[in-house]
Amino acid sequence: MHTVADVASAQTRLLDFKRHGLRVGFVPTMGFLHEGHLSLMRLARARCDHLVASIYVNPLQFGPNEDLDQYPRDLERDTALCESVGVDTLFVPPDLYDGDHSTTVRVQELTDGLCGASRPGHFDGVTTVVARLFGIVQPDVAVFGEKDYQQLAVIRRMVRDLCLPIEIVGGPLVRDVDGLALSSRNKYLNASDRSRALTLFAALQAIANSGSPSVSERLAIARPIVQADSVDYLSIVHPSSLKPLETIDGPARALVAAHVGSTRLIDNIGL
Ligand code: PAJ
Repeated sequence: MHTVADVASAQTRLLDFKRHGLRVGFVPTMGFLHEGHLSLMRLARARCDHLVASIYVNPLQFGPNEDLDQYPRDLERDTALCESVGVDTLFVPPDLYDGDHSTTVRVQELTDGLCGASRPGHFDGVTTVVARLFGIVQPDVAVFGEKDYQQLAVIRRMVRDLCLPIEIVGGPLVRDVDGLALSSRNKYLNASDRSRALTLFAALQAIANSGSPSVSERLAIARPIVQADSVDYLSIVHPSSLKPLETIDGPARALVAAHVGSTRLIDNIGL
C-alpha cells in the first residue's frame, strides 16, 4: 500500500493507473475506521483493479457547534486496517482546499428533509468534498454505506445530475453484536449512553415488525421506544425520493436521528 498526502501527486498517480487501463475503486472516509468502513473497502476491492481509500475529516460538513475538533482520529491504526483489506493507495490530505476555494456543489430537495433539516449546510459540505475527491481520484466505482442513507441518495443524484462517469455502489449497514449501528462516534458513548443508543434500533425494528400499512400507526408504536435526550426525526420515507409516506404499499425506509448525551446518532432500516 502506498500512502499519499499531496493532492497533485495523488491525482497524477491515479490518472497514470487509469491510463494503463486499470479500473479504479474508491471508498472515501473520515477515518477512525471500523468494520462498517472495511466492509465497503471489501465490496470495492472485488469491483476494481486498484483500490483507493481516503481519510479526511472535512470541515465543510460540520456545523459551528458540531464535533469537528473532537472527531476521533487514529491514523496509525487506520493505515494498518486499510492495508489488511487490500487498499492500494491511501489518500490522507492534511488539507484539501485552496485558500481561495470558491465552489460549492449543492443537491437540492433531497437535502431539505431528515439530516438536511437538522444540519443546515451539512450536505453541501459532503457533496462539495466528494465532488473534489472524485476529481482527484477519478474513480470508476465508488462505494458508500447505507448507514448514511440520505448521503448515499444525495451522492447518487449528484453523480446523475453532473453526468459523472462513476458507478455508485451502496453497501449494507454493519451493526455491532448488540445491534448498534457501527459509527466512529460510538466511541463517545459510555455504558448507559450505549444502552439508550440501542433504543434507536429497537424503535426501527418495531416499525419493521408492525404489519400496519399506516405510517402514523407505525410511528406511534416506535416513538415511545426511543430513550434519547432529543430526537431530530423518526420518519418513514420513499427509498429514493426520501419523501415522507402516509401509507406503506411498496418499498419504504424508516430512519431515525437522535442525540444521546452530546452524541448525535443515526440509523435506518428497509421496510
Ligand atoms: P464516514 O462517516 O467516515 O463514513 C465513510 C463511509 O462509511 C460512508 O459511506 C458511510 O456511510 C460508511 N459507513 C459508516 N458507518 C457504517 C456502517 N456501520 N455500516 C456501513 N457503512 C458505514 O460519510 C462520511 O465519512 C463522509 O461524509 C464522507 C463521505 C467521507 C465525506 O466527507
